[in-house]
Amino acid sequence: MATVELDNIKKRFGGTQVIHGVSTAIEDGEFIVIVGPSGCGKSTLLRMVAGLESVSEGEVRIDGERVNEREPMARDIAMVFQNYALYPHMSVRQNMGYGLKIAGLPKSEIAAKVDEAAALLQLEPYLDRRPRELSGGQRQRVAMGRAIVREPKVFLFDEPLSNLDAKLRVQMRLEIRDLQNRLGITALYVTHDQVEAMTMADRMIVMNAGRAEQIGTPLEVYERPQTLFAAQFIGSPSMNVLDATMQDGVLHLGGATMPAPTTATGKVTVGLRPEHAIADPEGPLSLTVQMGEPLGANTLLHGRIGDGSEAFTISLPGVHHATAGERIAFRVLPENLHFFDPETGARID
Ligand SMILES: Nc1ncnc2c1ncn2[C@@H]1O[C@H](COP(=O)(O)OP(=O)(O)O)[C@@H](O)[C@H]1O
Ligand SMILES: [Mg+2]
Repeated sequence: MATVELDNIKKRFGGTQVIHGVSTAIEDGEFIVIVGPSGCGKSTLLRMVAGLESVSEGEVRIDGERVNEREPMARDIAMVFQNYALYPHMSVRQNMGYGLKIAGLPKSEIAAKVDEAAALLQLEPYLDRRPRELSGGQRQRVAMGRAIVREPKVFLFDEPLSNLDAKLRVQMRLEIRDLQNRLGITALYVTHDQVEAMTMADRMIVMNAGRAEQIGTPLEVYERPQTLFAAQFIGSPSMNVLDATMQDGVLHLGGATMPAPTTATGKVTVGLRPEHAIADPEGPLSLTVQMGEPLGANTLLHGRIGDGSEAFTISLPGVHHATAGERIAFRVLPENLHFFDPETGARID
């Protein structure tokens, strides 16, 4: 059990700065997801917490104590990677107990800890198998087991589910979350998958190019994205973004005008989530359909907004038949309009 604090963490590789000052305080037992596109610095940030990379500037604290100079083994953390790196010639039991053996624990103690973790992970029937005799999900559980037996204060996960197929990923998401809940161990979890972040996180850190764009609960980020980047990264399909103008309290958007509750004036960037379009023959906005995507529960319609050339997607509930060239009128609730500064991308309320 532990708190983790990142205090203005920076990282330079030679002359190149890749982390530009990330700060957050993670509570005991919290599940924090670090999410962002490939190359934005997620793994680097996690590896600095683990002690696998040095911290160029700032301080990492575990339970209030500075650990910058502490060896990885002395930080009471356990890390689970994408490639589980199980030893192929060892049984599940040996794989799970290996770290404890290296640490010099007596055999009986190792056996007890491995049995306990195996029960927790429902791996008991497989303890004598080799990794190649396991499914992908089972291997992932062995990797988790190897982390659990060490009774770490903090779990670190770096894209642990990326190698699994879609269905198994959904199942393992729930398993990891459930396990972390039951054990109450603070966790930092890295993924590039925004759905994973939305479904697993107590709070998420949305990263872009070495900076934290927003830190908040999934719903906070979804409902009140603080930057255009966070707005477009979280949510699927992505939020639509349009150039618009605010004049005398009236919004000029996609060839239509509507009242809008914002302090913004002049040129603004407006964000609209596809799922917030409400089909309405009287609606001020319209989509000229280019292509429909029936998903069963909902239908995505891709096209152009109004008479303009700007690409736009709406998501309508249920099955919706629309042919190319058809025009669909819709409206949006004022509270579902998001305003951003066209220069900086910062949210305007
Ligand atoms: N050892 C290293 N030396 C130099 N640059 C590195 C090193 N490790 C990572 N980087 C760079 O740091 C940036 C962030 O990388 P990384 O943390 O792996 O991103 P992510 O995990 O989000 O995909 C990338 O531009 C990457 O090329
Ligand atoms: Mg990475």
